[in-house]
Amino acid sequence: MRVLGIETSCDETGVAVYDSEKGLLAHRLYSQVDLHADYGGVVPELASRDHVRKLIPLIKEVLAAANSSTQEINGIAYTSGPGLAGALMVGAMTGRSLAYAWSVPAIGVHHMEGHLLAPLLEVNKPEFPFIALLVSGGHTQLLRVDGIGQYQLLGESVDDAAGEAFDKVAKMLNLDYPGGPNVAKLALQGNGAAFKFPRPMLDRPSLDFSFSGLKTSVLTAYKQTSDYPAKLADIAASFEAAVVDTLLRKCERALKETGLKRLVMAGGVSANVKLRADLQTMAQRKHWQVFYPSHAFCTDNGAMIAYAGCQRLMAGQQENLAVTVKARWPMVELPAL
Ligand code: KG4
Ligand code: ZN
Repeated sequence: MRVLGIETSCDETGVAVYDSEKGLLAHRLYSQVDLHADYGGVVPELASRDHVRKLIPLIKEVLAAANSSTQEINGIAYTSGPGLAGALMVGAMTGRSLAYAWSVPAIGVHHMEGHLLAPLLEVNKPEFPFIALLVSGGHTQLLRVDGIGQYQLLGESVDDAAGEAFDKVAKMLNLDYPGGPNVAKLALQGNGAAFKFPRPMLDRPSLDFSFSGLKTSVLTAYKQTSDYPAKLADIAASFEAAVVDTLLRKCERALKETGLKRLVMAGGVSANVKLRADLQTMAQRKHWQVFYPSHAFCTDNGAMIAYAGCQRLMAGQQENLAVTVKARWPMVELPAL
């Protein structure tokens, strides 16, 4: 089966063609970073308008790159939530309409399921069951995954998501949007042990996370510590170390509690180089198998949506003609395959 995937849940227009037999045929991403940079964050209305402008030309470009005619597309997958409602509607309406015009089935994909399954696009893919750490701009979750649609939530952030904390700390340090990569870049020049920031919730038995207290500690350090040349880099590195440490310790706990040895990490923050490196080191020491997407498929992209949609379409699931999008949508509500 050959599926066209469309991602428009936030500030990236992502399109891909995935073929169940031949793999990923082509993918393209158009990022709206420059559009939102002046505002220090995503402006939902501008995001929707830009998706409207960019999506159809991008679909045309990806079909050409995939060397695929429209007749060869057997299904269409679009992100139907969670995300910005207006932005989601652009991808959903376009995807549903094309499917209607081409007489093929369409499926609305859960954005976080897309992230979760992105490591399955790689050559070396995880087998079920595994523990998944999903770390994006809107979600920080630990799940037990027994198959597609078989998700048990083990823990999640009770306040800010990990990516959101990176973005807010970036603002405090006067770094440009998008914050995460810029904090990580500055952290490279700093000392991660310079500030002893709290490792939130590690003293509690649960697998939940909390990042808002850490953010406050960063602000206090920023305001109170006397200025010295490397201060901002030290704050960035110490913050990053606290987040990475917290995420890894909770993963360790989840693996221990479930007796599993396989860990999958996905979502925008999984692009973080220190997180990947520290996870790798820990995995070697503990004899875990770890999997994460290649860099391009950590952050939002069309390939993960095409892949997840293809699995559900092949299982016979599809949408009717009434298009719905969901700004909020718990992943555990998804049906099992
Ligand atoms: O998955 P994603 O692209 O979009 C959502 O579904 O939210 O994740 C975006 C988040 C942003 O908060 C961004 O700052 C963060 O991922 N991020 C990073 C890095 N790259 C992206 N955080 C830390 N280090 C990075 N290298
Ligand atoms: Zn995402």
